Amino acid sequence: MTREPLHDGWTVGPKLGPFEAPADGAGPRLVVLPHDALRDLPRSADEVQGVHSGYTPGGAFEYSRELEVPPSWRERTVRLEFEGVYRDAVVFLNGEVVVHESNGYAGFSAVLDPYLRFGEVNRLTVEARAHRDSRWYSGAGIYRPVHLEVTDPVHIPVHGVTVTTPDIDEERAVVAVAATVRNSTRHTRETRVAWTVTGPTGEIVASGGCPVTVLPGTDAVARARLIVDEPLRWHPDHPHLYALQTTVTDAAGGALDEDSTTFGIRTVQVDPRNGLRINGRPLKLRGACVHHDNGPLGAATFDDAEDRRVRLLKEAGFNALRSAHNPMSRAMLDACDRHGLVVMDELADAWTRSKAPHDATITFPERWERDVAGLVAKDRNHPSVIMYSIGNEILELGTPIGSTWSRRLAERVRDLDHTRFVTNGINGIIANLPRMAEAREQVEDANTMMANMGDQMGLMNASPLVSASIEESAAVLDVVGFNYADSRYRQDAVDHPDRVIVGSETFPARIDVMWGLVEELPHVIGDFTWTGWDYLGEAGIGRVDYTDEPGYEPTGTAGPYPYRLAESGDLDITGYRRTISYYREIVYGLRVEPYIAVHRPQHHGRPTATTPWSWTDTVSTWSWDAAHGAPVTVDVYADADEVELLLDGESLGVAPVGAEKAFLARFETEFHPGELIAVARRAGHETGRHVVRTAGTPRLQAHADRDEVAVGGLAFVAITLADDAGITVADRDVRVEVQVSGPGVLAGLGSGRARTEESFGASAYTTYDGRLLAVIRVDGPGEVVVTASADGYEIARTAVRGI
Ligand code: GAL
Repeated sequence: MTREPLHDGWTVGPKLGPFEAPADGAGPRLVVLPHDALRDLPRSADEVQGVHSGYTPGGAFEYSRELEVPPSWRERTVRLEFEGVYRDAVVFLNGEVVVHESNGYAGFSAVLDPYLRFGEVNRLTVEARAHRDSRWYSGAGIYRPVHLEVTDPVHIPVHGVTVTTPDIDEERAVVAVAATVRNSTRHTRETRVAWTVTGPTGEIVASGGCPVTVLPGTDAVARARLIVDEPLRWHPDHPHLYALQTTVTDAAGGALDEDSTTFGIRTVQVDPRNGLRINGRPLKLRGACVHHDNGPLGAATFDDAEDRRVRLLKEAGFNALRSAHNPMSRAMLDACDRHGLVVMDELADAWTRSKAPHDATITFPERWERDVAGLVAKDRNHPSVIMYSIGNEILELGTPIGSTWSRRLAERVRDLDHTRFVTNGINGIIANLPRMAEAREQVEDANTMMANMGDQMGLMNASPLVSASIEESAAVLDVVGFNYADSRYRQDAVDHPDRVIVGSETFPARIDVMWGLVEELPHVIGDFTWTGWDYLGEAGIGRVDYTDEPGYEPTGTAGPYPYRLAESGDLDITGYRRTISYYREIVYGLRVEPYIAVHRPQHHGRPTATTPWSWTDTVSTWSWDAAHGAPVTVDVYADADEVELLLDGESLGVAPVGAEKAFLARFETEFHPGELIAVARRAGHETGRHVVRTAGTPRLQAHADRDEVAVGGLAFVAITLADDAGITVADRDVRVEVQVSGPGVLAGLGSGRARTEESFGASAYTTYDGRLLAVIRVDGPGEVVVTASADGYEIARTAVRGI
């Protein structure tokens, strides 16, 4: 078989009717996949999708490409494997419809055989559309990879090889492998399937095989229980991976097909007394909810971008990801396997009751079995995946019929994969929206309830009405996921002693409280914050507003135009760790040193408005263009009793940790350039210190995160305004022009600034707190040179080599 990415040679344009012509300049243009057709469209305050898409319009698009079909393919099976097209994709070959997939996050195959014209140039067309169908920025088009596969008619179908490890001890592991062989010829075929297992260090550790006779037009499943001696187990702390190579040969030994998949050897257990255990060792989940988009790349899914996200999230202290609220990309699953993060992969944000006027609920009742099968088939060989979530904040969940949907979905997942746990992100309020007034009456302390939306959610989520309405849907799960319902954790242990809980979604700023509960309560296995990595759309959900800003009007959680990003991630869309990320690391007990976060002196004393998803408007810097002596608030995060702040060796005072908030000491002081040191102490002894210094003269700098990039891969170039010691200046932002020469292109340029009219597709963008990220796609071998220029600065240069 041959399997190649089919990423070149495509055009994309608007999907038009037969008698329509594109507007001037809007006709088809050449693109390389993966591609997001929405990212560069003009945004506007009047856009009907509004805050949901970050004021980005939707549209209908047509991708097209020639496909040369040699006469030899007459004897082959030809299929395209799409990892995801958003949305309502229709694939045509030579004008004939091949397949329709309405789910924008599901992988699917298009078998081209019936429509191929041999010895000719064929035309492949893929339609995609996105309009008012999502609560967040979805992107549109062929945003995930596509593979062209040409196989023998006797072959392994997509996802045709599975591996489980049902029986493991120190001495050996049983690796149960299964391979499906499909015979699409008219004759019975005698084949042989063979397996080899390669260990983490590259040597072959097990092998096996058997003859398989496959009747015409049928599939046959070959199985073996291979033995791996002294297995090296997969665990987040040491994610050892094994590789399984499967080959199918004909009776004479001629190659027919092959497959390779990685897997891990590990056990997963869960119960309310011991919580979650992997290989018998307890593990509390330090989880992050993540969306599918890739910031400046829009929704386009590149292996290198997904790998980088996973790596940086792990470095920031997370050991678990929840794919909110759709199946995770293959690249991200691979990265979680490699880097050691466990995954809660999610089916959908809605089942039959819609959350957006044109969303995927329209076809859910006829599609759900395929969606579940696709999710499980994609995930089942990944050791990182430990839980399937069947939904998020499902509107009908609290009704009897909604509960039958819960049961149906959970049971189907189990039929297909009994080796993992089933969960669901339950929000009792969302599940009872029409009855919330009633629930409110049941909550004792109405004043507290009204204090802010965060408390209100917690109290109502614990109301008797919610408890009763969700009981059936919760009972079908192995692990009950609660969104914003830590108010239930203690009582549920009494009312439902068999219930295991995970905080499937929680307010970021409450991690101090959340983590205390997770550590204390054995039946609570972890916490997933909203969110780990900032995302496009749901614009401004986590922003901090200055309410004395001229023209300010309260808009609740919705950020007004031109907000584009949610501004709620621990890491911003460029992968830069916001201050909350360090707070969390300290709360988790992973960082001993304190951490300095400074409130912007230019906004000192101004009144603010926040949402339950906000943190503070702080930066870890002591480089401000503020007047000497300007008042400034300094927060120091620390796991300590007290913190002393010193400027150039002189004490600015000592503040207790926890007076305003746990793990936080706050200082009111003055800005003077120099060296600011926070010294944390417990019982009088220093536990650690953090230093920030005022930058010297800043230069424009460009640094690539790697020297060499495989062709088709990405390099991430950090562009900063920093002095020679690498200290970044926060408030001298400039517009930077980026140019790329050699075999590469600028695939995306952006900053962490949530409110902007700038475009990720442009060659210039303004730094945010002195930082910008340029993403370079390398299209061929050779040197790719990236230059950055800005008024008043010398040009910065960096290079990577395509290999
Ligand atoms: C939750 C929802 C998330 C996101 C978040 C912040 O209720 O599950 O998808 O919308 O609120 O707005």
